[in-house]
Amino acid sequence: MVQEPRPTPTQIGPAAYDTWRRTPLGALTERLEHGLIFEAAGRLDDLHVLDVGTGDGAFAVEAARRGAVVTGIDPDPAMLAAAAARAHAMDVGLQLGDGRAEQLPFADGTFDLVFSVAVLCFVADAAAAIREMARVLRPGGRLILGELNRWSSWAGLRYVKGLAGSRTWRSARFRTAAQLRRSMAAAGLTVMSVDGAVFYPQFAAAARLMAPWDRWLGRRMTFGAAFVVISARKPSTSCGGPSSIRGGPARCFGAAMGTWRRQTFTPIDISKRRVAAGAIGTMPGLPTSSPSKPSGLA
Ligand SMILES: C[S@@+](CC[C@H](N)C(=O)[O-])C[C@H]1O[C@@H](n2cnc3c(N)ncnc32)[C@H](O)[C@@H]1O
Repeated sequence: MVQEPRPTPTQIGPAAYDTWRRTPLGALTERLEHGLIFEAAGRLDDLHVLDVGTGDGAFAVEAARRGAVVTGIDPDPAMLAAAAARAHAMDVGLQLGDGRAEQLPFADGTFDLVFSVAVLCFVADAAAAIREMARVLRPGGRLILGELNRWSSWAGLRYVKGLAGSRTWRSARFRTAAQLRRSMAAAGLTVMSVDGAVFYPQFAAAARLMAPWDRWLGRRMTFGAAFVVISARKPSTSCGGPSSIRGGPARCFGAAMGTWRRQTFTPIDISKRRVAAGAIGTMPGLPTSSPSKPSGLA
């Protein structure tokens, strides 16, 4: 029987990202978002990092460039192909594979740092996804979430696009920093910082005018910020997340069984995968196949 291809979770392909980043507004906005994520991440040398919903690999490649050993997962094959091409173009190693935030194909405690940017708005049960991200963190490891803030004109615009028929935005769920914070705390994590960025409306002129004050504002509030970044730490004493703390040794055993069951990650062979036609077609020096060097963790 021929298997139907699985529908991709969003209709935003890699080409749309590339086009967005080439606009003055996109370039400025991306610079602020990257700045905030990597400020929260701090030094990355030799850390094992998971990028959940890696998309075309912009954050994953930057983390690898900063010395991390990076794994990126995404359910959209076109995005994974674009991420592989980006890694090749930047000459960094990435391990890439199919995976969803709600059921991560990794053992408990695998990563030093997990981050996920602009993904949870496409996930119905964000709390479950956050529990999964907490599970795959080692004790003492950190989770960094970057999300489109519900209380922002940018989310409002996308909400209207959803009402006007956009499939991607119709099913999107925008959350507040407080909601994400609560889910992180409920997953047993200790929230360390909450920051905002992108306080301007979605116009290049307004962006240019307001960008110099963006970081100053973002340290003080998140209301009105299009982008919020929340950083949290997993307690060092935990053996498998909040359930193990509550449930004692029996729960720890359960977590260990979970570890055993969930080791199903199969990285794509990026040395053989051809980049999907048009995936990031306008990138200068775009390779037609991904790197021949082995990926980071393989
Ligand atoms: C807006 S893009 C963000 C990509 C990247 N994180 C970035 O910020 O450049 C959202 C990504 O989330 C992925 N995605 C959607 N649902 C997902 C899920 N349930 N688990 C993991 N990734 C998902 C999409 O395929 C897409 O690549």
